Amino acid sequence: MPDPFYVTTPIYYVNARPHLGHAYTTIIADVARRFRSMEQAETYFLTGTDEHGDKVVRAAKKENLTPKAYADKISGLFKDLWPELNIRYDQFIRTTDPAHMAVVKQILQKIYDKGDIYFSEYEGLYCFGCERFYTHRELVDGKCPDHETEPEIIKESNYFFKMSRHQGWLIDHIKANPDFIRPERYKNEVLAFLKEPLEDLCISRPKTRLKWGITLPFDNNYVTYVWFDALLNYISALGYPDGELFKKFWPFAQHIVAKDILKPHGIYWPIMLKAAEIPLFQHLNVHGYWNVEQSKMSKSLGNVIDPLQLKNIYGLDAYRFFLLRDMVFGLDSSFSETSLVQRINSDLANDLGNLFSRILAMVHKYFKGIVPESNPEIEEELQLGLKTNVSKAIAEFEREMETFAFHKALMAVWELINHMNKYIDVMAPWELAKKKSNKKQLEAVIYDLLEGLRIISGLIYPVMPDTAATMQKHLGMDPDEPFYHFDRLKTWKTTMPGMVLPKSTTLFPRIDMDKLKKPSPETDHPQAVNSDIKPFITLETLRKVDLRVGTVIRAEAIPRAKKLLKLEVDIGETRIIVAGIAENYTPEDLVDKQVIVVANLKPVKLMGILSNGMLLAAVDENGNTIATLEKKVTPGTPLE
Ligand code: MSP
Repeated sequence: MPDPFYVTTPIYYVNARPHLGHAYTTIIADVARRFRSMEQAETYFLTGTDEHGDKVVRAAKKENLTPKAYADKISGLFKDLWPELNIRYDQFIRTTDPAHMAVVKQILQKIYDKGDIYFSEYEGLYCFGCERFYTHRELVDGKCPDHETEPEIIKESNYFFKMSRHQGWLIDHIKANPDFIRPERYKNEVLAFLKEPLEDLCISRPKTRLKWGITLPFDNNYVTYVWFDALLNYISALGYPDGELFKKFWPFAQHIVAKDILKPHGIYWPIMLKAAEIPLFQHLNVHGYWNVEQSKMSKSLGNVIDPLQLKNIYGLDAYRFFLLRDMVFGLDSSFSETSLVQRINSDLANDLGNLFSRILAMVHKYFKGIVPESNPEIEEELQLGLKTNVSKAIAEFEREMETFAFHKALMAVWELINHMNKYIDVMAPWELAKKKSNKKQLEAVIYDLLEGLRIISGLIYPVMPDTAATMQKHLGMDPDEPFYHFDRLKTWKTTMPGMVLPKSTTLFPRIDMDKLKKPSPETDHPQAVNSDIKPFITLETLRKVDLRVGTVIRAEAIPRAKKLLKLEVDIGETRIIVAGIAENYTPEDLVDKQVIVVANLKPVKLMGILSNGMLLAAVDENGNTIATLEKKVTPGTPLE
């Protein structure tokens, strides 16, 4: 029996909505878990949300919600997103779960009782964005490297965790287990960091400054630092200390994180475990960043990519494939819709899709859709070599997947696909079909190719589970059976002769990028998603748009125009504006309402009325909702 496998993602902060970066990490955890199920290992997959801390308090305030109500809302977005991306987790943990909070207190007490936590006054440079103290050495030009703001000097009494005590032990552990942190560049980064003496970690926040956290079990006036709370989710989820899940899975834990949180996972976490006398996890797998046009994806830059939109346009499997194939695990990658389309067209539509439909078309053309029998003597005579290529592909795939080198594992599968496409050209079944005396040869070649397809469908299963199932159905197998188990994939000749196969289908339609980008007549917006199409603008450009607050003075329907209303709006001067909102608003709804008006738009005539301005509104499946302000302001006030 293979070892059990426990895989975790970071638990995501609830101060922002999920984006492509979060989706990537969670998809690879799903792929890793599915890969282990090919080996028939017992697996457990944990994800969740990190809900305490100052960032959440501030984000909640902005939305006029309590931290808990706000956390419920955003956590729900993450939880609901994952099934949409075909991600099957076993548990979704929240740091506000009472069971988690109890474990945090228990461990804090244990470490405190052992004397690894002490109380002391501290003056330091504090970044409110990161919620942590910085040393001078860590700052760039005197500023926090993440927030690019100068930290503030604050002085307070706090609890500290004696990290330095375990520094030597951690260095030894990493050196003795070179793949504890992988890929290697990140192991080296942690070791480089550990060359300098570690400072003790401040693990408390006074309640006078922050209440939204877990109270220290030994001092009611403090809550614990978010990282001390969050990291413990990996064991609290398993029912530490006595839970069956903990006993079974913890020794095989593999964490997945991006490079941004290498330090807490590569340094704080192992030392916390050591101090609490808990065995270490097996591996920390660290990936790079998805950037958009060389910049980090971030809400403030406005270049965040919505994970669902891509699925809706390109299909889920194609999107999962692209993310895994395009990023070299460990390095940064630049997201662009153009490269996504190129990958779909070349690797999926052309290589895999063509191979699949070519082979199935031949089964129908030469054998009326019935799987032919393969004669071993003929196979020998023809020296059919596909089996060797298949074994090589399986071995490479397995080796690379073990170490999270997903791009290399997929390259091994594509080598097989390309080999099979060439094999068809060399064996030229259409030539064999010309002579009746070559029937046995033709049967052997087609059978060989069907076997190749069966293996490919199994190997793509972790990354593209739906496509794998479609292929299986067309190969005459029950897609609900675990066709992807390695013991089946490694057994040559399991395709049953005599089975009738359904006609082929298009696995991946080719995408015409030009058509995709053409504006649609209705919306005048490009249909493709995002940022490689929508360029950044400068503040100067934005300021060219004259946005003003207006109060609607009068509103009336326009005869024969179902969608339009004629409005008289006070924006410091009276304007007539024709707005396409009649399906969602009656004239009475609007009078006295404050709206946002684009005041310097070229006037246009609509239904014979000169419309001088435009209202801002959001349009979704329920129609229009006009933008308005939280409080009444003087009409004509500009927006900035
Ligand atoms: N709450 C902490 C983690 C605590 S784990 C005990 C946190 N949350 S986060 O919401 O900021 O998530 C960070 C993680 O999201 C990264 O480590 C990575 O997994 C994922 N990503 C966020 N942006 C990303 C990219 N642009 N590219 C790739 N992954 C990204 O840190």
